[in-house]
Amino acid sequence: EQIVGEYFPMFEKEQLTVRKSITEEHVPVCIDIEKMVRVYDNLFMNALKYSIKPSEFFINLELKDEKAILQVSNKAENVPADDINQLFERFFRGDKARTGHHGTGLGLAISKRIVELHSGRIHADYSGGWLRFTVEHQID
Ligand SMILES: Nc1ncnc2c1ncn2[C@@H]1O[C@H](COP(=O)(O)OP(=O)(O)OP(=O)(O)O)[C@@H](O)[C@H]1O
Ligand SMILES: [Mg+2]
Repeated sequence: EQIVGEYFPMFEKEQLTVRKSITEEHVPVCIDIEKMVRVYDNLFMNALKYSIKPSEFFINLELKDEKAILQVSNKAENVPADDINQLFERFFRGDKARTGHHGTGLGLAISKRIVELHSGRIHADYSGGWLRFTVEHQID
């Protein structure tokens, strides 16, 4: 909620309407806050940089099967890679990203490493024009 609040003005400025659904339930996960903030920062910055605009940005946090599941989705013309898993490779940047925005192509690779060091999982899927990232943590 706190990070979403910090990003809210930037989403508004970029004409992305935030649609969030965050569970009211207690979410008992053991995480390194500073490291996980890097993961959320990159996901939110990526949506700001690469989403189709104006459009909507969905944030969803729920508890399911003993897992805390965070999903973020934004509109994208296509998957900017032949294989969606390439997005998590070091230095990978899509065509649009290379022409329009600064970045190193490290954000998702670092995020994957951080999430996996938490014994969690991060992955992406694309369906009907929406690119969605899922971050899963086992709850304690
Ligand atoms: N939310 C998104 N919507 C559309 N494309 C995305 C999104 N997130 C990532 N991508 C694509 O995946 C590439 C890799 O993302 P990643 O965060 O790893 O690197 P970056 O944003 O280019 O650079 P950095 O995060 O290091 O500043 C991006 O360059 C972009 O092409
Ligand atoms: Mg990035």
